[in-house]
Amino acid sequence: MANLGVNIDHVATLRQARRGTEPDPVGAAHEAELGGADAITVHLREDRRHAQDRDVEVLRATVQTKLNLEMAATDEMLAMARGIVPAMATLVPEGRMEITTEGGLDVRSGLDRLRDVVASLHEKGVMVSAFVEADADQIEASAEAGFDACEIHTGPYARLYHAAGGDRRNAGLHAEIERIEHAGRIVREAGMRFNAGHALNYVNVGPIAAMEGVWELHIGHAIVSRAVFVGVREAVREMKSLIVQSAGGRS
Ligand code: PXP
Repeated sequence: MANLGVNIDHVATLRQARRGTEPDPVGAAHEAELGGADAITVHLREDRRHAQDRDVEVLRATVQTKLNLEMAATDEMLAMARGIVPAMATLVPEGRMEITTEGGLDVRSGLDRLRDVVASLHEKGVMVSAFVEADADQIEASAEAGFDACEIHTGPYARLYHAAGGDRRNAGLHAEIERIEHAGRIVREAGMRFNAGHALNYVNVGPIAAMEGVWELHIGHAIVSRAVFVGVREAVREMKSLIVQSAGGRS
C-alpha cells in the first residue's frame, strides 16, 4: 500500500497572505501526522512565497515521520538541504511565474549537474527523488544520476480524469493510466522507488493508489482544501482511507 506524503505549503500560503503567524504549517504537519500521514513535504522556493526558512528548520526538529524537502537544484537550496538534512529531498524544476510546479525535471539535459547534487545530498545521508514526467528516458537519466526514487508527475492524468468525468474506459484516460503504470515499472526495474504526485485528489487518487509497487503519493492542495471544512487531521484520515481501499482493490 502506498504511503501518504502530505504537502503543507498551502497552509504557509494562507499565513503569508497576511505575513503573520497563523495558520502555522508546523501545526498542520503535526495534525497531518495524527491523521496518518507517513511523510510531510514542504517546498522551499527561491522567492519564499509560502514556506520560510524557519518553517523548514522547525519542521526538521518536530516532524516525527519523514520530512521531504522539495527544492530546486540550485546552490542556495543545496546548501540549505545539506544544513537541514531532511530524510528525503525531491528535486523539482522551479519557474518564477508558475503557480505550482508545472512540469517534470529535465534530468537528461541536466545530468552532470544533477549527478553532483545527488552525490552531495547522499554524502549527508539524504535520500533523493526526482520529480519527472512518465517518460522512459527521463527515468533512465534519473537512475544514471543516482536518484533513489522518481516521483511521476500525475498532473496530466488529473486533467484527463477530470475531462473524462472519471470514465476509465475513456481512451485518453486509460492510456494515461497505462503510461504511468509502465513508468512505475521502469522506475522499479531501475532499482528506484516509485512515487507519484501532483493534482491528486479524493476523486482521482484511486487508480494511482492501486498501482503495483507504488511507494508514496504526494498530495497537498486537495488535502488542505478539504481541511478548511473538516480539519487537517480528518482530511488526512479520509485520504489515507481511500488509499487503503484502493490498495485492497488491486487486481
Ligand atoms: N509533488 C510535487 C513534486 C509537487 O511540486 C507538488 C506541488 O507542490 C505536489 C506533489 C503536490 O501537488 P498538489 O498540491 O497538486 O497535490
